[in-house]
Amino acid sequence: MAKLLTIQGGKPLQGEVHVRGAKNLVPKAMVASLLGSEPSELRNVPEIKDVEIVTNLLTTHGVKVERDIQGGTMTLDPRETYSAEHSEIDAYAGDSRIPILFCGPLMHKNGEAFIPDLGGCRIGDRPIDYHLEVLRNFGAVVDKQPNGIHISAPKGLRGAKLELPYPSVGATEQVLLTAVLAEGITELKNAAVEPEIHDLIAILQQMGAIITVYTDRSIRIEGVSRLSGYKHRAIPDRNESASWASAALVTKGDIYVRGAAQRDLTAFLNIYRKIGGEFEVDDDGMRFWHAGAPLKPLVLETDVHPGFMTDWQQPMVVALTQAEGVSIVHETVYENRFGFTQALARMGAGIQLHRECLGSNPCRFGQRNFLHSAVISGPSELKGADIDIPDLRGGFSHLIAALAAKGTSTVTGIEIISRGYEDFINKIVGLGADISISER
Ligand code: EPU
Repeated sequence: MAKLLTIQGGKPLQGEVHVRGAKNLVPKAMVASLLGSEPSELRNVPEIKDVEIVTNLLTTHGVKVERDIQGGTMTLDPRETYSAEHSEIDAYAGDSRIPILFCGPLMHKNGEAFIPDLGGCRIGDRPIDYHLEVLRNFGAVVDKQPNGIHISAPKGLRGAKLELPYPSVGATEQVLLTAVLAEGITELKNAAVEPEIHDLIAILQQMGAIITVYTDRSIRIEGVSRLSGYKHRAIPDRNESASWASAALVTKGDIYVRGAAQRDLTAFLNIYRKIGGEFEVDDDGMRFWHAGAPLKPLVLETDVHPGFMTDWQQPMVVALTQAEGVSIVHETVYENRFGFTQALARMGAGIQLHRECLGSNPCRFGQRNFLHSAVISGPSELKGADIDIPDLRGGFSHLIAALAAKGTSTVTGIEIISRGYEDFINKIVGLGADISISER
């Protein structure tokens, strides 16, 4: 039965939440364990749906996964990995985007892989052409089948000279996870350099990989013939931290995020401060609050790291609905990441979407008819509404809006939020929100 969340808005969120390992690193670190000849240990693992899906997929391939959920420690033993039945793998079709990253490791282990149809948030087309192209360059043979992709490496995988058309996070991870055990040297240009990529590189280096990152977005990987296991503590989830920070701002609250790390939030914190948020840092986390003065509008553009991340955009748009004046947000990473603003508009926000690039830099989407720029006129009084959650970050933004709004909101589709936000309902309750859950 689906859950229905009823929110009485208008109360400032106050208190403490605990953020653990990054959703955009942990499942990939789990996949990396497949490359080892020995077991690995991953710490700071959150209890989120993506971790569950990857655990199941790894288990299906013979990896023994043991987990202390509360302590956040996971051990992964890949010593008896085998090719799984297509029908078993198929059970995970449409659940997540992570399965595409199994290609390299499974080809190294078993000579072949079957990848089910992918899922993930509907925030654009999200093709996998870069992934397939780099895999072909390593020598893989890709066979698209009705319910997935069969990929094999009849002649083994060899290092390659590669250049991505765009610094894709997933495609860079694909290259790393394939190149480390490929024969010879791989050179990747135009790579993504997000903190989660650096954390994955740290893991692979511990396992025995030789990887050099240059200042010009290029990465060189010298293939080795064997990798061991790793012991690693995942970096904290900077997107969850930014989401709670935005929640504090929008609800005029004050939230201490235990586990948040300033280092990977630089671009976010600059914008946070300019809008009118305050923050404080200590050894265990960060405190975020509304500084008291009216929020200020601004012009904002999402970008790859070290720019303002696309995953921070949606919660920040909710804050901008409360700023005094006109703000502009130009989304340059995903062509269709403003769908969530429809619900905000129903709640009373003044938001108009445009096809033109309204930022200072024209992006890939400007000529292609995508509503990827938003003009937000504030401040608007938000009113409660009935909301069906469309995607992970958009969904969390809807929660924040409903928590700040006047009156009652009902929210369905909250299961999507558990894909990336650990225990979010108890966290919101702990912050003093007035919510109730029912089944329907
Ligand atoms: N792209 C292609 N072809 C490809 C791969 C990507 O055209 O083969 C395009 C995408 O359509 C997009 C752009 O390249 O327009 C960037 O996509 P990227 O590959 O970097 O994204 P991803 O690896 O699929 C990860 C995160 C996203 C995060 C992005 C950008 C995971 C599981 N997901 O996605 O996180 O927004 O990087 O940093 O790591 C989220 O957490 O809500 C989320 C969507």
